[in-house]
Amino acid sequence: MPENKLQAIKYADGQLQLLDQRLLPYETVYLDVPDPKAAWQQIKDMVVRGAPAIGVTGALALAVHLISGGRGKQYASVQACLDDVASTMDYLVTSRPTAVNLADSAVKLKAVAAEAAAQQGATAETVTAAVVAAAEATLEQDIAANKAIGAAGAAALLSAVAARGKANARPGGKVTVLTHCNTGSLATAGYGTALGVVRALHEQGRLERCYACETRPYNQGARLTAFELVHDGLPATLLVDSAAAALMAQGKVDAVVVGADRVVANGDTANKIGTFSHAVAAAAHGIPFFVAAPTTTLDAGLATGEEIEIEQRPAEEITHFKGQRVVVEGIDVWNPCFDVTPGRLVEGIITEEGLVPRDSGSGSHKVAAFMAAR
Ligand code: MRU
Repeated sequence: MPENKLQAIKYADGQLQLLDQRLLPYETVYLDVPDPKAAWQQIKDMVVRGAPAIGVTGALALAVHLISGGRGKQYASVQACLDDVASTMDYLVTSRPTAVNLADSAVKLKAVAAEAAAQQGATAETVTAAVVAAAEATLEQDIAANKAIGAAGAAALLSAVAARGKANARPGGKVTVLTHCNTGSLATAGYGTALGVVRALHEQGRLERCYACETRPYNQGARLTAFELVHDGLPATLLVDSAAAALMAQGKVDAVVVGADRVVANGDTANKIGTFSHAVAAAAHGIPFFVAAPTTTLDAGLATGEEIEIEQRPAEEITHFKGQRVVVEGIDVWNPCFDVTPGRLVEGIITEEGLVPRDSGSGSHKVAAFMAAR
């Protein structure tokens, strides 16, 4: 089988490897993840990034830990096994604070462990086996979710564009889509969320062009999304983030679709820094702005975006280029990794279970009710 250059996470039988995304697009190098400590560091250092990919990596790091190289872990009791599952996941969650998917993995895997422990005749081995199976399943679940998001998102975008009377403005009823950061195969277990929507539009013959924003300062758009678009042969154009509003003003953008790191109860959405600016520019031009995210990214536990912890990244991402300082010494730097787009600027939140309903009066999204109804 030809090598899949876009596979961020490789896992089989307790062996986990991550594609080192820091080296893309030039080198394809996989790093071993022998234990949770290595996983924590690799998530922190951006070997793997993207909210769903981080969530799946954390789950698989626990599987690796429990399998311990195929020998299986020996626990003195079921409680010792439960404690180990909990402390390992609690530790992994501290690697990066904004994306909620890893915390979601932690909650779900702890629940699986508790349920297995409550079974009659439960042993540390039966609990371990249940947790490993659940952790391993996250890979396929994420890919399936992304395919469903792609289908639902393509339909939502096309209908939003049609509602604005632009459906036939381009030959073949095609649409142009602007996106930000990297939300594709590299940011997930495969296919992607927002970039999955772009892929689905292309598969349906309805994509005129994808505009990919560079995504300063870490350049996920330029280094990763451009790589994915060229790899798949999609019509695509790269632009600097600050050119997006000018492109919209020229009538070249029919819709915007971005991913998310955390969507809270009212639809406020934390995503890569620069997303908020695109939402404001889209609103100013009457362009529909969508968020595409799996339900693992929804966090109904927080009421508004003000409660989201925003990760700060090192100043060197701005002051240096390829290890070389390019900025005068003595300047202070503010480098938030994410911003929060108010839910009212988001036309639709696309999940694998369809669009989150919206309150027609206030315009806020009913994330809590949507999650509760599942
Ligand atoms: O800092 P990163 O590269 O992890 O940030 C990634 C993003 O902001 C993505 O848009 C988000 O995680 C969704 S990925 C499907």
